[in-house]
Amino acid sequence: MPEDTLPESQEKILQVKNLHVTFKTYGGYVKAVRGVTFDLYKGETLAIVGESGCGKSVTSSAIMGLIPQPPGKIENGEILFDHKNLATLPKAKLRQIQGMDISMIFQDPMTALNPTLTIGEQLTEGVRTHKGLSKSEANMKALEMLNLVGIPNPQERMKQYPHQFSGGMRQRIVIAIALICEPTVLIADEPTTALDVTIQAQVLELFAEIQQKTGVSIILITHDLGVVAKIADRIAVMYAGQIIEIGNKREIFYQASHPYTKGLLNSVPRLDLMDEELQPIDGTPPDLFDPPKGCGFTARCPYAMEVCEKIEPEKTMLSNSHRAYCWLHDERAQAVFPSK
Ligand SMILES: Nc1ncnc2c1ncn2[C@@H]1O[C@H](COP(=O)(O)OP(=O)(O)OP(=O)(O)O)[C@@H](O)[C@H]1O
Ligand code: SF4
Ligand SMILES: [Mg+2]
Repeated sequence: MPEDTLPESQEKILQVKNLHVTFKTYGGYVKAVRGVTFDLYKGETLAIVGESGCGKSVTSSAIMGLIPQPPGKIENGEILFDHKNLATLPKAKLRQIQGMDISMIFQDPMTALNPTLTIGEQLTEGVRTHKGLSKSEANMKALEMLNLVGIPNPQERMKQYPHQFSGGMRQRIVIAIALICEPTVLIADEPTTALDVTIQAQVLELFAEIQQKTGVSIILITHDLGVVAKIADRIAVMYAGQIIEIGNKREIFYQASHPYTKGLLNSVPRLDLMDEELQPIDGTPPDLFDPPKGCGFTARCPYAMEVCEKIEPEKTMLSNSHRAYCWLHDERAQAVFPSK
């Protein structure tokens, strides 16, 4: 699939091209990611949204080199970063990039931290091994990071263990660990779902602040369209292992063109559309052991046509930053299966 087209002035930090990931299971091969293509630009926040099981985490794990192989396998595609293809890079080389240039924040801050090490030890480990800083230099850097993420009394807090912090504070520490090596890309997989609502808002503000200060590019994975509305610049909507629509925030929220994106927006409350009735999307996603030949949304789509179940829709460019994969927007649908 061809790449995104956006103004030339924007620098591409990461390019994912036609990524396919499968998992071997007792029941057969799960085709978890089926031809995902997107670019990540310098200093932007790209949100990836979609129902549970649509392939958001598998896509981000592939970028981080964290697909367990076996049972997983990158069958096809490229992940281009700093003139290297991460999809085929040897493990040792990948390890130099993970945590250094590309960092990841996982959903649950407690499992991301080691309960037996102090916060200071966990913060300084990465910069000491990856960047070769001395102990005192690493401590200085750790203090700087704790200040950046808003931990009070950082000097004292460095000597404490994870259980001595609240959930919100732990997530701030996880973010500090992810940022201490000054990565160019930060992947946050559901970073706020384990937190209560007020803490969620603080963590999101922190992301925006850190991005402004460091220029880091963020891939934010979330179910929560409220979170997306707050901090994303662009949004990629995934369904059944594919990106079915991608565009900037305005294009996705106000000019959504794929029936699944529209369904997703209608299924959650929106402050700007108080009077609209919420409508959940009926049905379930297709079986990824044996995905449909045509559009993966056919069985649930109110607009499905004959062509939809037979032939996979191709890309339609709706603007230079907005693309969707749906026969409704493809003039060729009539030519392939003229309506009777
Ligand atoms: N280790 C694995 N073995 C087998 N199947 C897997 C494995 N990891 C993921 N999958 C499958 O890949 C598909 C995509 O999973 P993924 O975790 O990316 O979904 P997700 O979009 O992140 O969902 P959620 O919103 O629930 O986190 C699912 O069908 C899942 O069952
Ligand atoms: S391609 Fe067809 S089935 Fe798929 S979303 Fe578009 S109209 Fe619906
Ligand atoms: Mg996930």
